[in-house]
Amino acid sequence: VHGDGGLTRRGLLVASGALAVAALRPPAGAALGARGVRAAPAGRPDRQHAWDATLAVDEHGNRTAPRLHRLLLLDLAGPPGIADATALEDALRAVEAQQPAGPSGILLTVGWGPAWFAALGVPSPVPEPAALAGDRAPRLERFAACIHLASDFADVLARAERTVRTALGGALVLAGRRTGFTGRGLPRRLGPPAARRLAREAPLYLGFASTARRSQAREGDVTLRDGPWAGGTTMHVSVLELALERWGRLDERERVAAMFAPGVTPARARRPGPGLVLPAPDGRAGHAQAAAAARRDGRPRLLRRDFDGVQDGRAVVHFVSLQRDLEDLAATRRALVAHGPGIEPFVRARSRAAFVVPPRSRRTCPLLPGWDA
Ligand code: HEM
Repeated sequence: VHGDGGLTRRGLLVASGALAVAALRPPAGAALGARGVRAAPAGRPDRQHAWDATLAVDEHGNRTAPRLHRLLLLDLAGPPGIADATALEDALRAVEAQQPAGPSGILLTVGWGPAWFAALGVPSPVPEPAALAGDRAPRLERFAACIHLASDFADVLARAERTVRTALGGALVLAGRRTGFTGRGLPRRLGPPAARRLAREAPLYLGFASTARRSQAREGDVTLRDGPWAGGTTMHVSVLELALERWGRLDERERVAAMFAPGVTPARARRPGPGLVLPAPDGRAGHAQAAAAARRDGRPRLLRRDFDGVQDGRAVVHFVSLQRDLEDLAATRRALVAHGPGIEPFVRARSRAAFVVPPRSRRTCPLLPGWDA
């Protein structure tokens, strides 16, 4: 069991007891499809990662991320079967039936890692996680799957998690759980003591928003165009540890230079807009400036859906990024190291994991014989 809020052995046993019933007996009263799965509720696009249309947009086109997040990380406890797939897909549809798509309801994406495909004896569409440029021995994780749940409301999120967990405990078991938040004032309120020195309104620990329109890939840019996973994407999930105390000892001007670029004023960094246009890096770049060197055709290659959290009492970033190919992430990391220092001296990757996010119609147990093959 990894991560914050790790499960106890007893927790797993309780969850598996619940499954034995859930898997055999489909939920009473549900409209059942051919496979013993309730009908998919209408209104969710086939691209699982198509969240943007549901997010609030400011006058500059910047989107507001959902405030509360949860990652459920799954392992395989044995060979997966149709009953596992049926139970999970039914639970995911139940979650979608409970709430509308969007931060006022629930957003979710499900990804599958190399360990899943290895268990089926088929090649993985995503590589095994590897250390990236600048890393110092991160844990390379081999989860079978990752479910990202997001909402503005804690009770909605908790209910969604409970619903998903009724489906686990057969071959698919909960191996880890990560929770977090992003949005004005939340890091200061929900973070560790070191976060209390932050600007009252900061949406992320380091004190700045990171979702300006120009600095995010568009959903279409990160969508796989053709091949067996067309309509899907890839998802990288890492835990980044922040040296918040040291960051807090920089003055405002130094923080802005490290985050954006030398010469950017704090006032300019805080002024809302579609994103700063920063000069090409020239040896001592800020983070955003260095990352922009990895753009393709002038557009960022990553769609960042990260959020802040707390692990072992320390401030961490749950860095969730979507990209067409994991090489897009590796290239961005190389640019950050090559042109930095940016925020590199304050960030250390604790772990890395990689998943393919299939289109929604194939989001559960992809390529499982008799189910999706
Ligand atoms: C540790 C926490 C991190 C924070 C607080 C952070 C913050 C930021 C901020 C403030 C921006 C400027 C864009 C804006 O104003 O919207 C930015 C841009 C960006 N960051 Fe980060 N970042 C973090 C980690 C990372 C990591 C680990 C990666 C990649 C591996 C990354 C990749 C990018 C990219 C690709 C851009 C956009 C560059 C462009 O405009 O082309 N960031 N980030």
